[in-house]
Amino acid sequence: MTQITFRHARHDETGRIAEIMFGDPPQEAVRVCESVERARRLCYMQVKTPELGLGWDRTLFAVLDGDPVTVLQAGTQLGFAVTPRLIWQSIRILGPLRALRSLPYISAQRRVNAPAPEGSYHIAELHTHPDFRNRGLGKAALDHAEVEARKEGCSTMSLVTTVINPARHLYERQGFRVVETRTDEVYERMTGIPGRNLMVKELA
Ligand SMILES: CC(C)(COP(=O)(O)OP(=O)(O)OC[C@H]1O[C@@H](n2cnc3c(N)ncnc32)[C@H](O)[C@@H]1OP(=O)(O)O)[C@@H](O)C(=O)NCCC(=O)NCCS
Repeated sequence: MTQITFRHARHDETGRIAEIMFGDPPQEAVRVCESVERARRLCYMQVKTPELGLGWDRTLFAVLDGDPVTVLQAGTQLGFAVTPRLIWQSIRILGPLRALRSLPYISAQRRVNAPAPEGSYHIAELHTHPDFRNRGLGKAALDHAEVEARKEGCSTMSLVTTVINPARHLYERQGFRVVETRTDEVYERMTGIPGRNLMVKELA
């Protein structure tokens, strides 16, 4: 019988976090980086750069039969900073011209991210390793996050997802509703995706 448990990631598990989150890099990263391999390298670099807040200290694993297979990064104060190191590493991976061409994406991405409600418990990242999807791990992680949100006294949970992401069905089943859709021409031209939805769940 399979058993799902949760635990915090350790410092030496950054590689596994990157693999679960970005082994199969998202469409928008592939489009902006103009190759799957470059997108993977860029995303892995972001997970491995400590000050960006995508690493082990933010990560909760869902563990299936002993293997970490789902990454959850959530909480009340999450942010992502564009630092000089990030810029330098991005230029190394993308090359100067591609890095320059990707700049409008950074501001377009900000425009399509509607802000979460004040004090909301925000799901910043939720990923299940492709080999383990559709077995209920995403649902279990959202249930776990809800318990944490209630412990922290939050009255809402929130997340942002692209308008084409099939994960919307999972979120709606869990009680999230789309409260705002933001579209952007530059974002669509660069990623092939019209925009993003802000989804919110009220905690009674
Ligand atoms: C979204 C995701 C975490 C769900 O994990 P999971 O362990 O498969 O979750 P569950 O088994 O509990 O739920 C299955 C649901 O996930 C969604 N789903 C399935 N494949 C998916 C995929 N490739 N991308 C996004 N969502 C997917 C569907 O809604 C599915 O239910 P449905 O078929 O009835 O509509 C996982 O599919 C994933 O990592 N996707 C890629 C990253 C991503 O899109 N994360 C969400 C960003 S907001």
